[in-house]
Amino acid sequence: MNRTLEPELMDDAAQVLAYAAADFSQENQGFVDRFCEYFQDFSEGHVLDFGCGPGDIPIRFARAVPGCRMTGIDASAPMVRLAEATVQQAGLSGRITFRCERFQAVALGEPADAAISNSLLHHVPNPLQFWHKLRLALKPGSPVLVMDLLRPASPEEALAIVDRYASGAPDILKMDFYNSLLAAFTEDEVAAQLAEMNLSRLMIDVPDDRHWIVGGLV
Ligand SMILES: C[S@@+](CC[C@H](N)C(=O)[O-])C[C@H]1O[C@@H](n2cnc3c(N)ncnc32)[C@H](O)[C@@H]1O
Repeated sequence: MNRTLEPELMDDAAQVLAYAAADFSQENQGFVDRFCEYFQDFSEGHVLDFGCGPGDIPIRFARAVPGCRMTGIDASAPMVRLAEATVQQAGLSGRITFRCERFQAVALGEPADAAISNSLLHHVPNPLQFWHKLRLALKPGSPVLVMDLLRPASPEEALAIVDRYASGAPDILKMDFYNSLLAAFTEDEVAAQLAEMNLSRLMIDVPDDRHWIVGGLV
C-alpha cells in the first residue's frame, strides 16, 4: 500500500481537544523511559521535542531528567496553547517553553544537547527535511529518540489495528489513527531515509506491530 498523506498540522479545535483528552500515558511514559534507558548518562542540557503536541511528553521528560530544559516545537496554535496551559499547571513553565512554528522554518540558535520526537514524521510530506533539521539543530554526538507509526500493508490491516487498539475511542480519534497509519512510513522507508541523510549509525527497532523507533547519537 502506498502512503496517503494526511494534513501536516493538527489545528482543528475538536481534533486537538480529542487528542489531548486521550490517554497516551503508557505509550508516552514508555517513550521517555526508553530514552532514559538508552542514554543513561544524559542528565542535563537543552532538549528539543519536534511536534510536541499537547505537551505530555515534555512534562514526563522534564520530570524524568530534572537537569534538562526543553523546547517543544509545534506549528499548531491550539495545540501549543493547550501545551502551555498544561505545563503551567504542572509547575514546569520555568523549564519547558514552546515555539509555535513549523520545524522546517524554526531558527533555534545555539545547537541543542538532545532531541526527541513522537508521532510527527507521518505528518510530514518530505521526511528528509525532518532528519536534516534534527541533525542541524543538535551538537554532534547528541542523543536522539524518534518514534512513529508503521504503515501496514493494506487499508484492511490498518482498520484491524484501529479495532485492536482503539475500539473504545471517540470516532474522531479512530479516524485520526486510521489516517495516520495510512500516512506512516515502513521500516524499510525509514532505513532508506537514514541512509540518504548519512544517519545510518542510528538504530531502528520495531518494538510492536504498529511502531518503529530510531535511536542513537547523531
Ligand atoms: C500526532 S501529534 C504528536 C504529538 C506529541 N508528540 C505526542 O506524541 O503526543 C503530531 C504533532 O505534530 C505537529 N506537526 C505536524 N507537522 C509539523 C511541522 N511541520 N512542524 C511542527 N509541528 C508539526 C502537529 O500539529 C501535531 O501537534
